[in-house]
Amino acid sequence: MNQNSKLPFPMPNYDLTGKVAIVTGGTKGLGYGVVMTLAHFGAKVVITSRHQDDCDRVAKEVVDLGGEAIGIKTDVQIKDEVDALVKKTVEKYGKLDMMVNNAGVAITKPILKMSEAEYNTVMDSNLRSVFFGSAAAAREMIRQGNGGRIINMASVGGLIGTKNISTYGASKAAVLNLTKGMAMEFGKYNITVNSVCPGYVKTALNAEFLDDPDYQEKMFKKIPLKRWGKVEEVAAIVLFLASDFSGIITGSYIVADMGTTCG
Ligand SMILES: NC(=O)c1ccc[n+]([C@@H]2O[C@H](COP(=O)([O-])OP(=O)(O)OC[C@H]3O[C@@H](n4cnc5c(N)ncnc54)[C@H](OP(=O)(O)O)[C@@H]3O)[C@@H](O)[C@H]2O)c1
Repeated sequence: MNQNSKLPFPMPNYDLTGKVAIVTGGTKGLGYGVVMTLAHFGAKVVITSRHQDDCDRVAKEVVDLGGEAIGIKTDVQIKDEVDALVKKTVEKYGKLDMMVNNAGVAITKPILKMSEAEYNTVMDSNLRSVFFGSAAAAREMIRQGNGGRIINMASVGGLIGTKNISTYGASKAAVLNLTKGMAMEFGKYNITVNSVCPGYVKTALNAEFLDDPDYQEKMFKKIPLKRWGKVEEVAAIVLFLASDFSGIITGSYIVADMGTTCG
């Protein structure tokens, strides 16, 4: 950046000082990257997963690095727990500015082998969670009257069909549609709602496949950039959607897939 140059108009920035964010599934993988990034840029972060010890460990890591965070165990499949999460966040930090609906699961199985319980787990973790998480967050943001940001972790799996993870793909496609409906309902309250569609990023969700050299070779033939994404690259997109830079973007999604869905 040229420190000596001046702009003739105010330019937004990435500063999140004073903002309060919830990141679901913030203990591992992409969510962990989002937690660390939002905290680094000044947000107070509430970290959730189904394990309080993991939430506490990551919150301590944030604090040790000079940020501010707490962990609140929450199963995003359960509406009452999600409502309580928002309530406890406001009790602790006085407000809520950003809801990052990141927690999600994938079950890799052909459709004919998926049980009803497995179907419910995927749909409840990936879609129900976003519906009720966003509703709880929006209710609080509307009450506060200062707008807000809702950011949903969808997937390229929601844009194209993929064998053996159809339930996952359907849940993520529904998140993209829900993002648009919520953007329309919440826009008048200055709440933006957007999604991110990452391609493959190596995390606990998929390390088993992505570490397999045969699978890697097969996939890299189809991926223009010939590599997996990185956690911090997805976190940077969430930061953009959380910041003033993206103030006029709502009901949209950013595809971050190394070009996978170009062809
Ligand atoms: N990695 C990729 O390549 C990729 C690509 C596209 C989209 N995504 C999406 O990105 C999101 C994060 O994926 P990831 O790869 O980072 O997964 P991950 O490494 O498996 O981490 C998932 C996180 O979500 C939490 N979680 C899972 N179910 C939960 C529930 N019911 N309630 C609360 N927390 C729950 C997990 O903690 P506990 O298990 O301890 O609860 C963990 O913190 C998901 O929505 C996924 O679909 C990932």
